Amino acid sequence: MDNNEPIYFTRGNPATSALPIEDFRMCADAIIQKEGKVLFQYGHYSGYGPLRQWIADWFEVEYEQVLMGNSSMEFLTFFAFLLLEKGDTVFLENPSYDRAITAMKRAGANVVGIPLEPDGINLDAFEAALQVSVPKLFYIVPDFQNPTGVTTALAKRNRIAELSREYEFLVVEDAPYRFLRYQGEDPPTFLELVPEKTLHISSFSKIMSPGVRVGFLIGPNDVMPKLHKWSEDTYIHPALVTEGIVYEYCRRGLLEPNIEALKSLYAPRMECMLQMLDRKLQGVDFIRPEGGFFLSLNLPEEINGRALQLNADDFGIVLSDGSGFFTDGKGDNFVRLPFCGISPEEIEKGVSRLAKALDYHRRG
Ligand SMILES: Cc1ncc(COP(=O)(O)O)c(C=O)c1O
Repeated sequence: MDNNEPIYFTRGNPATSALPIEDFRMCADAIIQKEGKVLFQYGHYSGYGPLRQWIADWFEVEYEQVLMGNSSMEFLTFFAFLLLEKGDTVFLENPSYDRAITAMKRAGANVVGIPLEPDGINLDAFEAALQVSVPKLFYIVPDFQNPTGVTTALAKRNRIAELSREYEFLVVEDAPYRFLRYQGEDPPTFLELVPEKTLHISSFSKIMSPGVRVGFLIGPNDVMPKLHKWSEDTYIHPALVTEGIVYEYCRRGLLEPNIEALKSLYAPRMECMLQMLDRKLQGVDFIRPEGGFFLSLNLPEEINGRALQLNADDFGIVLSDGSGFFTDGKGDNFVRLPFCGISPEEIEKGVSRLAKALDYHRRG
């Protein structure tokens, strides 16, 4: 690595070296030979049938509950436009995935941010917000959240599940990182805890390749027909060719070893970043995730976070705009640090540079 090259602490990209390109080439060749006439023709609005069935078996749900789509991001816009009317209330964790906030705001929703703690949302704030307005949807990233790295604890999951039944709102569970756990035990999903109220979305972006743009949604039987129809009226059907390749990859049993290989690659990167933060950023409060792609810092007040973010490149690092992750835009002192797409060497360099930048931007 060039000493002067900036280190990008911005996008949550998987490691390029881990993209299973050779396997894809083989799978593409095989499935196109076998299924070319299906994959290159118009198809069913819910996606490529064999992949739908594979996912239904994987998650132990019914075939009709699965809808394929071009990535999970696409589903966020589906929810925003199909399930929400202008002025409807949506709850989100605060901070939350910036593109989800944008999708909900674009649809004209009344977006209410519930403060996020190291073990999930603050339940008192959640219950107080319910007294003001019951949301149509609660959007949550319960496992290794983007942007914080927080995982929602079981007790909080149980209470949210109970409240969704009592107040009759849907839980949109966005879980693209769930299979990338490096330590500890998985709590159950909302799909397991409260299936009748959960729209579970995920994709192959983080566990295989984001370029294939293959996502899936699993939901209750009373909501799914609306979503299947919306899919048909929006794009007739999602892209079948990449779904075919993904199917062949899964059918050959390659997904599970790929996830294991990713965990072996990413766990030491997370550990390296945690150790560097312990060494270089004493006195700064940060989340210690158990998996996923991100961790995050809450900088103390004496640091001018806005100036730090805007001028980080003076120190050879590039940061995301922290305020984009907050429903009220108040994230000047919030820093998201992705650790999967960069090498341990880059992590060490980047955190050392960040420490220098923090010193420089201390107020007073
Ligand atoms: C929480 C969350 N949801 C959805 C997405 C979008 O993923 P996809 O590539 O499936 O559209 C991301 C991507 O970073 C994400 O972090």
